[in-house]
Amino acid sequence: MQKRRIGRSDIQVTPLVFGGNVFGWTADEATSFSILDAFVDAGLDFIDTADVYSAWVPGNQGGESETIIGKWLKKSGKRDKVVLATKVSKLPQRKGLSATNIQAAVEDSLRRLQTDYIDVYFSHDDDTATPLTETLGAYQKLIEAGKVRIIGASNYSGARVEEALAVSRQHGLPEYQLLQPEYNLYDRAPYEADTEPVALANHLGVVVYYSLASGFLSGKYRSKADLADKARGSRVEKYLNPRGLAILDALEQVAGRHGSTSATVALAWLIARPSVTAPIASATSVEQLKSLAAAVQLVLTGDDIRELNEASA
Ligand SMILES: NC(=O)c1ccc[n+]([C@@H]2O[C@H](COP(=O)([O-])OP(=O)(O)OC[C@H]3O[C@@H](n4cnc5c(N)ncnc54)[C@H](OP(=O)(O)O)[C@@H]3O)[C@@H](O)[C@H]2O)c1
Repeated sequence: MQKRRIGRSDIQVTPLVFGGNVFGWTADEATSFSILDAFVDAGLDFIDTADVYSAWVPGNQGGESETIIGKWLKKSGKRDKVVLATKVSKLPQRKGLSATNIQAAVEDSLRRLQTDYIDVYFSHDDDTATPLTETLGAYQKLIEAGKVRIIGASNYSGARVEEALAVSRQHGLPEYQLLQPEYNLYDRAPYEADTEPVALANHLGVVVYYSLASGFLSGKYRSKADLADKARGSRVEKYLNPRGLAILDALEQVAGRHGSTSATVALAWLIARPSVTAPIASATSVEQLKSLAAAVQLVLTGDDIRELNEASA
């Protein structure tokens, strides 16, 4: 499988990232371990998590996803087989991007992940109250100490990415090398208008989240009745409209031509976009994971991509 370089860094990854927000939420520990084993067995290598996952689940405090990944790394001995990304700034007790908070948060993450380094450390959200020099200076210390290899920015506007890059260059501080915006066949405009041009102009890597629009693009939700009692139901409701259903129809058409599934085609469309290093997607079973892994093998034709673009225009 052809690996892709993250921006200008020396880190190469397979073009499908596993999204770890399901660990400790919709996947218990045993299921999480089997999914992670199947992921690596499929030849894939990039795992995304955050300190705050999955604090939104009643009874959780955050840190559950990192803890499960850490236990799996220890049990499986597969640390050197994966590229690990985690994030700081949204855990309620470790909010923001001040130097003090980053220093404390990284130690917590390393302990939970049972590793001594994080490959990609993301600012989970912008923090306009903290000077960029302070945040980037904190990351510089972590890189020098070998605790972090490269840094990334999630949910930043294009203008703020440019500002941060300029500050890094001016002060000799590390530069953000990887962006993590929301992007999928349904939610296109904000990324394409704002972040994508900045990523391309600066040769940044891009991993996109909600690649399956919270499962909608698998085609399994077509009416409100389908959402009842579903963990992601409230996130999917906004897609149930004529444009959303037209996208599902196009995905089905293309999937039919390739003997594939809608989820696989939705991810292959992202993999084919030149600015995208890899889509991030999650799965709650080994069966679902197969449709994720298949996306890195599926090559869409120009006609396929045109049909999907027209449906989502
Ligand atoms: N940086 C950020 O602010 C941010 C925000 C959100 C997410 N993320 C990252 O992006 C990752 C992906 O987001 P996400 O997991 O929320 O959404 P997603 O990838 O769009 O949707 C994944 C969900 O779709 C369902 N699914 C997957 N494959 C399927 C298949 N073949 N057939 C039917 N259903 C299928 C599963 O949920 P069910 O089985 O429950 O239906 C799965 O958990 C997260 O894990 C996280 O790492 C980052």
